[in-house]
Amino acid sequence: AVLCSALKSSPSLSVADSASSDSAARIGSLSQVAGVLGCQWGDEGKGKLVDILAQHFDVVARCQGGANAGHTIYNSEGKKFALHLVPSGILNEDTLCVIGNGVVVHLPGLFKEIDGLEANGVSCKGRILVSDRAHLLFDFHQEVDGLRESELAKSFIGTTRRGIGPCYSSKVIRNGIRVSDLRHMDTFPQKLDLLLSDAASRFQGFNYGPEMLREEVEKYKRFAERLEPYIADTVCVMNEFISQKKKVLVEGGQATMLDIDFGTYPFVTSSSPSAGGICSGLGIAPRVLGDLIGVVKAYTTRVGSGPFPTEILGQGGDLLRFAGQEFGTTTGRPRRCGWLDIVALKFCCQINGFSSLNLTKLDVLSDLAEIQLGVSYKLPDGTPVKSFPADLRLLEQLKVEYEVLPGWKTDISSARSYSELPKAAQRYVERIEELVGIPIHYIGIGPGRDALIYK
Ligand code: GTP
Repeated sequence: AVLCSALKSSPSLSVADSASSDSAARIGSLSQVAGVLGCQWGDEGKGKLVDILAQHFDVVARCQGGANAGHTIYNSEGKKFALHLVPSGILNEDTLCVIGNGVVVHLPGLFKEIDGLEANGVSCKGRILVSDRAHLLFDFHQEVDGLRESELAKSFIGTTRRGIGPCYSSKVIRNGIRVSDLRHMDTFPQKLDLLLSDAASRFQGFNYGPEMLREEVEKYKRFAERLEPYIADTVCVMNEFISQKKKVLVEGGQATMLDIDFGTYPFVTSSSPSAGGICSGLGIAPRVLGDLIGVVKAYTTRVGSGPFPTEILGQGGDLLRFAGQEFGTTTGRPRRCGWLDIVALKFCCQINGFSSLNLTKLDVLSDLAEIQLGVSYKLPDGTPVKSFPADLRLLEQLKVEYEVLPGWKTDISSARSYSELPKAAQRYVERIEELVGIPIHYIGIGPGRDALIYK
């Protein structure tokens, strides 16, 4: 029933209704199926672009990750919403939100998010579909995440301890529990028992008994009832939408440099936040994908451990951290900060084949007299490094070569067109375009919806 009403009630929106001519032209020309993906180590500000674009799309879908993504968006009255699992399209009342098969779903977290949205007047019923193939993330996955990080001691990954990695591990070793299993409460207790006993045999610090199992099963019986109206065969739904020419926007979480394959392994996330993850995480074919927009911060940040070639240590890093408010949405952890890394960005563009880029947080650089761009890597003996290396030891040794560009030392947050940006800011944007060979169509100059320049 949810599927049918969603298909019937979802309108095709007109871009011209609400947008200026620059934005209307830009957004209107986007393909029927488009995606927004992170280019660095996450927190690029994908949420804002997704929220803006979502107003012109019928469906916004998430394809990977879990509640470790922390998108911050503002509604038209400037009210702040921190979303973790629910797609950023939720603030646009005509948009349907899909949580695809590639996502791992922590039901207590999802319901908390839904309750918070509804308490703020955002209706969720009939507007969120959760894939019956998505895996369930249990509280014990979170506990195990913490135990594993403690076990790793000094070489900890720096996960958000939200249980994402352990849940994907359960999926891959094939004893995970999926949303569709909630429809079979007769076999659910045995499945959960197997999952818990596996964790108990692996982690000394993790214990459970019949009482905990019974309580968890009772909790999930209630969740199963509450989730039922949201459950859908989203592979079928997505493909029906596409054949009906509905506009679909895919919202990436994390970013390519955290990709399980392409990121700085093992300091990565457990899913594929790159273009490939869209197809596997939603069950849609590569040929239906059109425009992919890469979101890149005007500088670089990373949370947790792992290589970061252009990191600025000390006071310089602190300046960026405070100017950019670089503290995690989900965990509040301070982010490491550094210059924009063109080598990493080119690597990411190669993997994803972006049609355009969104440069975010350009306003954060406004106080700097000079801005550096990390343009190439060299080994200590001077040998150039052609692409972003897999080898972490090599990454630690390499020397980054920088180009220094003049800053603009002016507040740019009220600029609303490209021509209103100071020449030095335009030069910075254009130099990035020259170096990566992909146009920058969107420039973020503040957190609000209106603080976006269409180039
Ligand atoms: P992950 O999916 O967890 O990687 O997060 P994200 O990429 O969606 O980042 P998020 O939306 O949480 O954005 C990070 C912060 O940057 C939020 O507080 C945004 O409001 C803010 N932000 C986004 N764009 C801009 C911008 O152009 N300028 C400024 N100053 N802030 C921005």
